[in-house]
Amino acid sequence: MPTFPENFLWGTATAAYQVEGAWNEDGRGPSIWDTFSHSPGLVANGDTGDVACDHYHRLDEDLDILSALGVGAYRFSISWPRVRPNGTVNRPGLDFYERLVDGLLARGIAPVATLYHWDLPQELEDAGGWPNRDTAYRFAEYAALMGETIGDRVATWITLNEPWCSAYLGYASGVHAPARTEPAAALAAVHHLNLGHGLAVQALRAVAAPTAQMSVTLNLHHVRGVSEQDADAVRRVDAVANRAFLGPMLEGAYPRDLIADTAQVTDWSFVRDGDEATACQPLDVLGVNYYNPTLVRQWDGSSDRATSDGHQDGAASPWIACEDVEFVQQPGPYTEMGWNIDETGLTELLRRLHRDYPGTPTMITENGAAFADVVTPDGRIHDERRVDYLRRHLTAVAEAISAGADVRGYFLWSLMDNFEWAHGYAKRFGIIRVEPDTLERTWKDSAHWYRDVVAAGKLPG
Ligand code: FCB
Repeated sequence: MPTFPENFLWGTATAAYQVEGAWNEDGRGPSIWDTFSHSPGLVANGDTGDVACDHYHRLDEDLDILSALGVGAYRFSISWPRVRPNGTVNRPGLDFYERLVDGLLARGIAPVATLYHWDLPQELEDAGGWPNRDTAYRFAEYAALMGETIGDRVATWITLNEPWCSAYLGYASGVHAPARTEPAAALAAVHHLNLGHGLAVQALRAVAAPTAQMSVTLNLHHVRGVSEQDADAVRRVDAVANRAFLGPMLEGAYPRDLIADTAQVTDWSFVRDGDEATACQPLDVLGVNYYNPTLVRQWDGSSDRATSDGHQDGAASPWIACEDVEFVQQPGPYTEMGWNIDETGLTELLRRLHRDYPGTPTMITENGAAFADVVTPDGRIHDERRVDYLRRHLTAVAEAISAGADVRGYFLWSLMDNFEWAHGYAKRFGIIRVEPDTLERTWKDSAHWYRDVVAAGKLPG
């Protein structure tokens, strides 16, 4: 039976823009996601995060749910424009996160705070956004502010969530805010996110509790080739997807093949002396988000090019310098996102990270599944496919651990149904259902199942 270490951290995860709502209350400024969701046609059904799960007003109720689930940790994100609108300090915004952190601690739950889960203050985008170097310094200032405010109580800091998405979906394919399709700017964004990460870790270490753990969350792609002939396609995709971040953050240098592959797009002159060293700060744990693997093939140049990468087709491709690569549809079953269910990629990914970065423990900071839930007449949600997905992936984590990988915890995405970015509320990842009109919370079967797993520290036999 799959087992987990004694001190394995069990948690759930959410992100500010996806759950908080209260988008224009108590001094919060606009973020690029407010602008994006308020632009007609960009989000399914015209959904916005204006109200979301109304978590801002239902904080205590949600904290009580976490407590009833019995989790040891909760991963939330801080809304940058709520605490630092227009570069000012917004005390009511800081108060909200103080209440959140204190409420967690009062319930014996370790706060795991993500600083940036995609909601850039709009005025920073107006000044150029992540392609602009100054944004990295503004990010470090914001990190210092949060470190000074709750740094004595936060257990783990995650600087960025999935900078891959911020850079490539935001600035290359444009399916995420700020909806730009400028490949050179996207690579500059990659660099300024890496730089901002390093500066933020430095800023936090200077003010946060010495015991606080430093981390970053990457959506590493587990890339497989259709055949051995596709090895170069795998290498190219791995470079832009994974090593563009792992290189500077964990090794202090961009991979040479990435620089060479993208030479037509940029000369990387935005990387200044010392930047890569700044990006490479010692980390206590690496956050890994995993949903499914990626399958690629060398494109023959004439047939219809497959683009089934799971990241929505946009006006342009997020895959810079991968024009000769196809993203191949993978065999099912699939979740409601159209993502195939294949937990073997998670075991392989964790083993690769352990092999390549043996001194850096990992933690699953997101894993979960969207399904079209059905509420039965007695008000229950029998989401056995979600339970099955979770069981498979937790087994995969346990297998990686027994193969020697140092995996410290697992955060289920998500605590509750929420605003799934450009998909709006149509895709439901929660183990707690949020009723669309009333926002009432209901435990799905998966929530009961996860509570039992957390209590036992192991999967049911
Ligand atoms: C990840 C995001 C998270 C959520 C899940 C489904 O890419 O970090 O906010 O949308 O996907």
